[in-house]
Amino acid sequence: MTETSIRRPFIAGNWKMYKTAAQAAEYVSGLRSMLPADPKVDVALAPAFPALEAAVRAAAGSPIAIAAQNVFWETEGAFTGEVSAPMLNDLGVELVIIGHSERRQYFGETDQTVNRRLKTAVSNGLRPIVCIGETLEQREAGLTFSVLETQLKDGLAGLDHETAEKLVLAYEPVWAIGTGRTATPEIAQEAHRFIRHKLIELFDKRLANHIRLLYGGSVKPENTADLLAQPDLDGALVGGASLKVDVFYKIVDIGCQVTA
Ligand code: PGA
Repeated sequence: MTETSIRRPFIAGNWKMYKTAAQAAEYVSGLRSMLPADPKVDVALAPAFPALEAAVRAAAGSPIAIAAQNVFWETEGAFTGEVSAPMLNDLGVELVIIGHSERRQYFGETDQTVNRRLKTAVSNGLRPIVCIGETLEQREAGLTFSVLETQLKDGLAGLDHETAEKLVLAYEPVWAIGTGRTATPEIAQEAHRFIRHKLIELFDKRLANHIRLLYGGSVKPENTADLLAQPDLDGALVGGASLKVDVFYKIVDIGCQVTA
């Protein structure tokens, strides 16, 4: 039932709290010199806030899009330490990661705050990459599907079809993030298929087949091809392996080959 051909693969790197502005600029310049002018996959990088401007500058006119790692739901006000969507627009940032499990785990992010950030992001023209995924305890307790269902229902609550069109989802099982313990392609596909079926219930079949589902959690060059070969995996959100430009380039290149 899945029409994979309509979804352009998407490889995104999440640098987390690594890289200064100068390091970001050097990396982006290096990556753009390695990439073909028109790669067969969408490519994005998510630097920390202070490196966004340098990354956007270095990526200008290249196929590399720049993403922020978070955004606040109000557009301005007395919210010390927060960054708004218009501020990201002003820098030329195109995308934003929302609800990463590290935000959920360490900074009190909930499905309700994900939902608020998501709506603000889209209404300000930022393309959201919304992260969902179960913890090890939840998986071992047999709760994976119910956790994913709640995250989708509450995180995407009240989204109209036009907003949902812009959405990219990342399935990132928490037990696979930064642990070197990647989900097998079969486990990832099972979760992705479940998510796509839920999207049919939440929206409709056309949108469910349109929304890209990235996998994240210890993606590296050695496992990229097998993961991307799964019918409901439309790309990858890469953490640790995105920190070195040659390693990230390899993942992008494998994505291009799987797509070819
Ligand atoms: P990882 O991180 O690739 O280092 O596991 C993925 C992520 O957190 O997005």
